[in-house]
Amino acid sequence: MDRIRIVGGNELHGVIPISGAKNAALPLMIASLLTDDTLTLENVPHLADVEQLIRILGNHGADISVNGRRERQGESYARTIHFTSRNIVSTTAPYELVSKMRASFWVIGPLLAREGKARVSLPGGCAIGTRPVDLFIDGLTALGANIEIDGGYVNATAPAGGLAGGRYVFPKVSVGATHVLMMAATLANGTTVLGNAAREPEVVDLAKCLNAMGAKITGQGTSTITVEGVPSLSGARHRVLPDRIETGTYAMAVAMTGGDVILEDTDASLLETALEAIRRTGAEISETNSGIRIVRNGAGIKPVDIVTDPFPGFPTDLQAQFMGLMTKSSGVSHITETIFENRFMHVQELARLGAKISLSGQTAKVEGVSRLKGAPVMATDLRASVSLVIAGLAAEGETMVSRVYHLDRGFERLEEKLTRCGAHVERVSD
Ligand code: EPZ
Repeated sequence: MDRIRIVGGNELHGVIPISGAKNAALPLMIASLLTDDTLTLENVPHLADVEQLIRILGNHGADISVNGRRERQGESYARTIHFTSRNIVSTTAPYELVSKMRASFWVIGPLLAREGKARVSLPGGCAIGTRPVDLFIDGLTALGANIEIDGGYVNATAPAGGLAGGRYVFPKVSVGATHVLMMAATLANGTTVLGNAAREPEVVDLAKCLNAMGAKITGQGTSTITVEGVPSLSGARHRVLPDRIETGTYAMAVAMTGGDVILEDTDASLLETALEAIRRTGAEISETNSGIRIVRNGAGIKPVDIVTDPFPGFPTDLQAQFMGLMTKSSGVSHITETIFENRFMHVQELARLGAKISLSGQTAKVEGVSRLKGAPVMATDLRASVSLVIAGLAAEGETMVSRVYHLDRGFERLEEKLTRCGAHVERVSD
């Protein structure tokens, strides 16, 4: 199994190209099931989660072709992928596939809307929390679906004439349930109004793509989304938006090591709250024509408190990385996680590098230390694992991160991007 070896101590200098967003690419790929025409997605990152979803969509009958010629983008490669689901050959998403990646549960929306039925395995819990599916069930029921749970599967059927427009107010903001209800409502009879909807940029990107396919969605990016159902959707060509979590991660890496890096092909407006928190730690951040420049020279890292929240708040997907940064701050910071109940598994691993962190309920108190020391550490989930990389970059000596497959789910060419900026990071295959 691969491991990542980091020798800390180097500043980062150079340019890092930012990939297309994993969390936009996944729902966009699933949206291709809504039409028998071809949906072409550009700027799709090459990640384990994308490959897994390709297998899942293939199981439903999608014909998928990846452009032989990879589109050059700085030092990275973005792919263009064509998805054609002329015929849906199966409306079942089996446990073996869904259990590997929670987002695959989201096929329930398009399958139900287009085929009138879907049988999708419950995704189950995962390392960061229990993550139930009650909001999906209640929301789809509001569109007229009949839903039963049996033998670990969600069996959903639409009424004879298809799903009907409805009104649903999410009791809690959910990115995935917003994606699913928006997709399902595109083909429903009549108008759907979703209240307390997620406002994440990835929801806006999905709405943009669905509208290019002929859907009638308004209000995306606000908490009320209105979807006027249409009889069918067509194909489209859409470019996946930049990955704001990858952007924030590398910005925090530079704030940690010091240096001067341009993050290319990204957009500061996707992560204002996180960038503001990084600025308050003492780093300078400015916008360039095609991205963001981040500089930290000499000055230490100031402690900053953060609380995770749905967009436009501080993203939970950057919480672990920010904690990594705070381990070397010049004081005490508090990090509060409000989205997932168990997203602090990086704490004990960061402690192995010498970090001083104590947990009280949903808040971590981080007492900055002047030096971290390299150690063997274990990745526990995608974002937790990259927080260990950030800490390792500033630790003395060698840090060896095992269970790297977590990183490969969401960070494209991580070691290459960091190495080109002067870091000592390599993949070790045993
Ligand atoms: C998306 O997950 C992201 N995944 C997550 O990124 C991200 O952490 C999360 O949104 C929050 O921003 C993708 O986009 C593929 P939610 P999602 O539904 O949609 C609760 C990463 O590292 N909830 O917004 O699954 C849930 O338990 C991943 O890239 C219910 O209670 O998250 C959580 O507490 C990890 N019932 C909260 O809502 C439901 O039916 C928000 O979860 C659904 C969710």
